[in-house]
Amino acid sequence: MRENFNSKFGFILAAAGSAIGLGNIYQFPFKAGEGGGAAFLFLYLLFTFVFCLPVMISEIAIGRAARQNAAGSYRVLGHKRWSLLGKTGVLTGFVIFSYYIMIAGWILSYLFDYLTGTPAISQRFPELVANPLRVFGFAALFMAITVLFIARGVRGIESAVRLLMPALTILLLGLVIYALTLDGASQGLAFYLQPSADEFLKTSTIHSALSQAFFSLSLGMGALITYGSYMKSNQSIVKSAALIAIADVTIAFLAGLLIFPVVFSFGMSPSGGPEMLFATLPKAFESMGSIGPFIGFSFFLLLSVAVLTSTISFLEVITAYVSEEWQKKRQSAAIGVGVAVLLLSVLAILSFDPKSTLSSGFLPYPSGISVNYFTFIDDLFSGIYLPLGGLLIILFASYRWKNFKTELATGDDGTLKKISWLLDPMLRYICPIILALLVVISFFDKYFGIHLI
Ligand code: PHE
Repeated sequence: MRENFNSKFGFILAAAGSAIGLGNIYQFPFKAGEGGGAAFLFLYLLFTFVFCLPVMISEIAIGRAARQNAAGSYRVLGHKRWSLLGKTGVLTGFVIFSYYIMIAGWILSYLFDYLTGTPAISQRFPELVANPLRVFGFAALFMAITVLFIARGVRGIESAVRLLMPALTILLLGLVIYALTLDGASQGLAFYLQPSADEFLKTSTIHSALSQAFFSLSLGMGALITYGSYMKSNQSIVKSAALIAIADVTIAFLAGLLIFPVVFSFGMSPSGGPEMLFATLPKAFESMGSIGPFIGFSFFLLLSVAVLTSTISFLEVITAYVSEEWQKKRQSAAIGVGVAVLLLSVLAILSFDPKSTLSSGFLPYPSGISVNYFTFIDDLFSGIYLPLGGLLIILFASYRWKNFKTELATGDDGTLKKISWLLDPMLRYICPIILALLVVISFFDKYFGIHLI
């Protein structure tokens, strides 16, 4: 007997846990700051609710109807050839997980530093990334914790999220309240929320908001096919998807309310990339006086919790695939996958070590910029593959799979009827066309520096 989530809420919590992670607390605030504040926020909300929600609905429906892993699902639904799409999704998950776990390792290392009262934490980032062994050790520890939950199956996932999601919400709200009461918080809010009109139609802002929406909602690689396969049939797919998206954008928005007031109150300017989390914020915490180490510890605990519910979902996608397709026991599959991901993570870890050839300048793009290995795979798998995978998933559901509508109606509480005038044309025409255009635009922008709009 295949397991199910115990309750409707269990499914929503788990999927929201998958969605809420680095995408929300790390990437979103930073990208919003860079992409003209409210202009980015508007595009991100538009992409999430208009173009991503239909993809999410398709993924969950495919999984729940087939009750199989991301690749096996297409076969069970009678479309064996499409399982290639599922396999590339699982592969994408594998690759993204290999650098996600590296960042999880950085976070755990910082958490450990705060716990042990290490001085001058804000200056430790260059030292940390130049020490691959330390990063690997903490990444491996994070992986071991993830494996412990996944080895226990769907029960393990459900018990984890029931504990972790409320903890995450409380930690985040507490920190936001503290941040908003700091002197100078309003400057940070102005930077975060004031729309700058000229950013609106920049190709780079559009691309950044699109890939952000897909990554943050865990879409395009089959994570929600996998979680959907454990969802009960008496639950509305459309409504659950909407709740997951609302939870995801709310947490992202709150994270910005935390980060910018802190950064600006202490007279710092928001920096790009990992610097923000691992140097700028710790520096602000250090300026806080005696409460600083406590705030720093709480912040890295919040990140660890958010990241853990996401690493659980990465590992679940691949473990479900390995155990069902290759007929392996769940426990050994989870351990085997964990080890394999860690081995691949070495490449990501080395791409931050200045001594390594994988670091900056590793690969020149035709556009002239050079990137390290990490940025290369992030651009390819997260920036291009996820929206492309999402496009193909929606095409499969809308045009190849006969029972899509029936599955959506199963367990629905009336929501579907009310919105089907909108949902039908979205699923069949609007989303596929716009997504295809966006993928092409992003591709040329990213690799060739050609701005099609
Ligand atoms: N959505 C997660 C985040 O925002 C990342 C993720 C992507 C998790 C795909 C699972 C699958 O951090």
